Amino acid sequence: MPPQTKALLAFVTFISSEIIAGGSIIADSECVNFTTLSDKSRSRFFSKNVTIDSDIYLKNWFAFNGSAGDLIATSCVESNHCGTSVPGWMLGRHPSVVEGVVRRFACFSQKQQCCVYSVSMRVRNCSSFYVYKLDSMPSSSVSFRMCGAGIKGVLSSVEKAINKSSGNSGDECSSYQSLEGRDRAADYFSYNTMKCDANLPRTWYRFTGPAGAVMPTHCVPKLHCGTLSPGWLNGKHPTVEERVVERMVCFTNNDDCCFWYSEVRVRNCSDFMVYNFGEFPASQPFCSLRYCGVGKTGCKDKHGNVFEVHQTWSPNPLINCTCLPGFKVECKKLKVVAGIALAMPLGMGRNGLAAASLNVSVLTNKFTASIFLDRLALMKMALPGAWH
Ligand SMILES: *[C@@H]1O[C@H](CO)[C@@H](O)[C@H](O)[C@H]1NC(C)=O
Ligand SMILES: *[C@@H]1O[C@H](CO)[C@@H](O)[C@H](O)[C@H]1NC(C)=O
Ligand SMILES: *[C@@H]1O[C@H](CO)[C@@H](O)[C@H](O)[C@H]1NC(C)=O
Ligand SMILES: *[C@@H]1O[C@H](CO)[C@@H](O)[C@H](O)[C@H]1NC(C)=O
Ligand SMILES: *[C@@H]1O[C@H](CO)[C@@H](O)[C@H](O)[C@H]1NC(C)=O
Ligand SMILES: *[C@@H]1O[C@H](CO)[C@@H](O)[C@H](O)[C@H]1NC(C)=O
Ligand SMILES: *[C@@H]1O[C@H](CO)[C@@H](O)[C@H](O)[C@H]1NC(C)=O
Ligand SMILES: *[C@@H]1O[C@H](CO)[C@@H](O)[C@H](O)[C@H]1NC(C)=O
Repeated sequence: MPPQTKALLAFVTFISSEIIAGGSIIADSECVNFTTLSDKSRSRFFSKNVTIDSDIYLKNWFAFNGSAGDLIATSCVESNHCGTSVPGWMLGRHPSVVEGVVRRFACFSQKQQCCVYSVSMRVRNCSSFYVYKLDSMPSSSVSFRMCGAGIKGVLSSVEKAINKSSGNSGDECSSYQSLEGRDRAADYFSYNTMKCDANLPRTWYRFTGPAGAVMPTHCVPKLHCGTLSPGWLNGKHPTVEERVVERMVCFTNNDDCCFWYSEVRVRNCSDFMVYNFGEFPASQPFCSLRYCGVGKTGCKDKHGNVFEVHQTWSPNPLINCTCLPGFKVECKKLKVVAGIALAMPLGMGRNGLAAASLNVSVLTNKFTASIFLDRLALMKMALPGAWH
């Protein structure tokens, strides 16, 4: 093992294969024999130059602590963060104690994709902390590294005001281009509009008109915004005082809310928001990735984040959705259509989209749909928490 790695790791060497807990004998050596990863460079927010060693020797169970955060990152970590060009994070939720050792996937980001490699891993809740273990290494050649969730407000480069105008044009609040087309709105649905922003000139942009005033801050499903893979802001909009901040744009691919990503600088100009998009993900032969505006029918959650009801399904909206607090959308069937059964088939049978966006819990004329959140329970990556 390279000496630098050794220096970063604190080995816990209790010799015990079973302990007594609550009167029952639990064979839980993984809760006592593990490697602690606490170096600050392991934080998902650490974005200094990539110099640190691979985790190829990390064969033991491991836990996070200290500046690395006390959990593994559970949403997409950008390349060149966490001290590596191939950051590793866990897909799925953390278990409770009674679930014991559970299987999850470790995802590895690279080249603006959130999960280029994945391997199975295990995780266990040891009551006051978690331990993890990779079942195999993603590849002997990649210099991957497992990343901690970090500590909010510390080492948070994504949160930090960069305070510099990347200005080819001076003040971004007075000199910007507009993105205003109706087909750029998150509530615009189309099977065959496949526009791409790969060649959008690098400058500051303001969303206006039918595109909506800001970018949506929650997952936008495929085939909206005049493209196959809509780009949405994975993070909060800044306040005026924060000046220019860095955020992540996620692009949806099928049911994956954050398959590709890019960086964006955002500034709150008090009455409106401006965006300067970073390097475009150059990943697919047929480009259909596009930055979205919220459109006209955005909902706001309790934090004031704007999200999308996307009720304009084509060819004909058969249900009427309204925004409710707590990410809930209440949908009502507009009319009973002969030959078409209740809610489930009407959206899903036709275009498959509703399946991805609505969790129909009651099959009646009135049902609630917790948009996206059930998918997010699996694909936690889309929650902006880590980017707050
Ligand atoms: C570290 O990053 C800075 C800024 O991105 C760059 O100018 C510098 O050359 C990098 N240093 C190394 C050793 O890569
Ligand atoms: C800790 O676990 C590793 C491998 O998982 C094993 O090789 C080692 O012997 C264990 N150490 C103790 C003290 O049990
Ligand atoms: C984390 O660090 C604290 C303080 O140093 C220590 O008490 C605790 O046991 C550590 N937890 C783990 C899981 O290593
Ligand atoms: C572990 O599981 C318990 C419930 O079993 C849960 O309350 C707790 O939040 C979990 N995590 C930690 C770090 O204790
Ligand atoms: C940001 O820039 C403004 C004006 O240029 C300056 O007053 C302020 O102190 C800067 N803030 C930081 C954190 O550098
Ligand atoms: C812009 O910043 C102000 C305060 O600085 C805040 O009240 C407002 O909500 C921000 N706009 C958005 C869209 O977040
Ligand atoms: C949808 O529901 C809202 C609120 O219940 C109502 O105001 C609106 O007219 C309905 N739209 C249609 C097309 O029925
Ligand atoms: C829908 O949500 C309910 C309650 O939130 C949950 O029990 C059910 O498993 C979900 N169904 C699907 C298909 O996700």
